[in-house]
Amino acid sequence: MRVFLVPALIFTSLAVIVLFENGCKGNDKKEEQHKTVAGGLPTAKDTIWWGWNHYQIPDYTATGKEIAYGYQLIANTSHYLGPKGTVAAISNGMNCQNCHLNGGIVPFGNNFGKVFSTYPLYRGRNNGIQDIYMRINDCFERSLNGKPLDKSSSEMQAIYAYIKWVGEGVPKGKIYKGTSLAKLKPMDRAADPLKGRIVYEANCARCHGADGAGARTADETGFVYPPLWGQNSFNDGAGLFRIGSMAGFVKNNMPLGTTYQSPQLSDAEAWDVAAFINSQPRPKFDQSADWPVLSKKPVDMPYGPYVDSFSEHQHKYGPYGPIQLAQAAVPHK
Ligand code: HEC
Ligand code: HEC
Repeated sequence: MRVFLVPALIFTSLAVIVLFENGCKGNDKKEEQHKTVAGGLPTAKDTIWWGWNHYQIPDYTATGKEIAYGYQLIANTSHYLGPKGTVAAISNGMNCQNCHLNGGIVPFGNNFGKVFSTYPLYRGRNNGIQDIYMRINDCFERSLNGKPLDKSSSEMQAIYAYIKWVGEGVPKGKIYKGTSLAKLKPMDRAADPLKGRIVYEANCARCHGADGAGARTADETGFVYPPLWGQNSFNDGAGLFRIGSMAGFVKNNMPLGTTYQSPQLSDAEAWDVAAFINSQPRPKFDQSADWPVLSKKPVDMPYGPYVDSFSEHQHKYGPYGPIQLAQAAVPHK
């Protein structure tokens, strides 16, 4: 008797889970998904975006198949496009998903929730309008320390299709909460790599390695734990090389399993560990053409020139307050 009861129980609990999932996510009503909120208490004003899960890709249609391929390229970039890539060898062995968590759907996990609704957009880094293809290639060249993908390639088209699918249902121009990296309150002291090393050793080294090199997959085509510095990591032109971006990412997502609802590091620990990681060696990227309009350069960009006379060191590590005050006094063109 009992033997039969077990499968029945499992089945019933699965059914409850499925019902619960559908109830929460609203299978055919995308708006529902956008109403998930911190602490599970929905308040209309404070709506946090969660994306579609890749299991929901309608991969029985031709478009769905393209979207599914795009998801694969984001999740397993190194398999297709890494140093031993089956399609081309144009990137460093990391996956897009190492930084755009779970395919780019996680709140404050560097998700793709505002990409389709806001691009093409003006970007100060190149002082021009940037479309989604150009933005994807920025990450190939900097975050994956690699080469750009041809716009007409089936890989670029598939990544585009996936990002479009993730952002469907977000009204044009809309930026939901949680679709940017969190901006932590700046400290009134400089972020400290020595303090950061202690945070790193206690919370990060067991996966990313004492040498920051991560851990490779058994077949050596990619990483189980991605590198944080060294020759296989993102280069110094990448977004995470800014300490503010790194601190915001780490606070809400690391150690692995952390969410914005359950951060494990204090803000100070996140700033300091970001300072430690970004003071280690990594590949270089020629950024001499970046930020042609200096007044648009973010305060934590580690390379000059600047509109103010503060050092590169203070721009990189802070404290940012005095720089911001000085910048506010400069008449902006
Ligand atoms: C080392 C980490 C890292 C990797 C790997 C990475 N990115 Fe990014 N990506 C970032 C950061 C940081 C940003 C900027 C986020 C911000 O400023 O809010 C970004 C931004 C983007 C954006 C624009 C997001 C927005 O809302 O404006 C797109 C699109 C994007 N990445 C696509 C990709 C793709 C596709 C890949 C793989 C080919 C990839 N990224 C790999 C770190 C990474
Ligand atoms: C339990 C293992 C684990 C621990 C501990 C951990 N990470 Fe990670 N980390 C990961 C994995 C796995 C990824 C890639 C996520 C993915 O692909 O889904 C990642 C991704 C990252 C990334 C983006 C990708 C890259 O390589 O640049 C950064 C930055 C990062 N972790 C920083 C940290 C910091 C800082 C700590 C300590 C506070 C930490 N991690 C602790 C497993 C871990």
